[in-house]
Amino acid sequence: MSKSPRNKTIDFSLADAPAGVLDRILHENDQLEDRNVVVDQTINGDAFKVLTRLPDQLADLAIVDPPYNLNKQYDGLNFKKMSDANYQAYTQRWVDALLPRLKPQASLYVFADWQTSIALAPVLERNFTIQNRITWQREKGRGALTNWKNGMEDIWFLTRSPHDYTFNVDQVKQRRQVIAPYRVDGQARDWEETANGRFRDTMPSNFWDDISIPYWSMPENTGHPTQKPEKLLAKVILASSNPGDLILDPFAGAGSSLVTAKKLGRHFIGIEQSLLYTAWGEYRLQQTSTGDSIQGYTDGVFWERNTLAAQHRHQKSNQTKLF
Ligand SMILES: C[S@@+](CC[C@H](N)C(=O)[O-])C[C@H]1O[C@@H](n2cnc3c(N)ncnc32)[C@H](O)[C@@H]1O
Repeated sequence: MSKSPRNKTIDFSLADAPAGVLDRILHENDQLEDRNVVVDQTINGDAFKVLTRLPDQLADLAIVDPPYNLNKQYDGLNFKKMSDANYQAYTQRWVDALLPRLKPQASLYVFADWQTSIALAPVLERNFTIQNRITWQREKGRGALTNWKNGMEDIWFLTRSPHDYTFNVDQVKQRRQVIAPYRVDGQARDWEETANGRFRDTMPSNFWDDISIPYWSMPENTGHPTQKPEKLLAKVILASSNPGDLILDPFAGAGSSLVTAKKLGRHFIGIEQSLLYTAWGEYRLQQTSTGDSIQGYTDGVFWERNTLAAQHRHQKSNQTKLF
């Protein structure tokens, strides 16, 4: 069955990979010890092996989206649910491989569902300073007859140093529509009247309810079963790194963090065990330039859901690009 023309999902097979995609990918047996070889590259291989071959103190920020402790198929490779003790040992193994690759001021964000989080938290606490636990309200989830449907994920915000780390609070403000505009002496209080509506830029909290998962009509969507949205990764990258910094993602999937890093003018290294997912990520990278737009992030702020029309009007009137 052919796809609808509005379906933008990237899901080509390896046999149909666009020219130049597979040639660009590094492999686990390549020479990975040289910084110049690995920066701004995707590496197809086992993260546990690849990480130990990368140069030390390389990354300013690590984005870690490991397999959750669930039975899951990733391109034919099975991840099997383990006991909590075994998942903790698995987590400690990637932490040990990753830690030497992080600069002393580096931050990390680690993703999990609530059950995985229970096992994960003690290991993270042993190895890092836990700065926060972000709740991402994701709309999609399987309903259950005897339990509450899962509608959230945890994102652990960690740093190596308790105090010495990057946090750009002004770059991750949220633009909300003002429902009850409050005025003092006829003047707008903490909000702005624009041609496109009334808005307030609010301080970012640890409850993220403004981000949907990628879906079929979005250009960022791929066939990856657990792809993270660029808007979410943009928040992480803007808050916890600066232009020119290096982002390391050891479980890179379809390359969402790498693409977002490139759009935002950061360097990146991604590792992924599936050649197919690595190829989808590499293809996305080849289609991406620094400064390209990120859906939901316009004019230096993150817009709440259901404001796409206002964002478009705003973009048109300002002709804004990211840089
Ligand atoms: C939760 S997904 C990450 C999705 C990714 N954040 C994205 O947006 O596309 C976890 C990924 O880790 C990969 N993976 C699992 N074990 C791995 C390993 N030992 N080395 C490298 N990649 C691995 C899986 O193939 C899967 O793509």
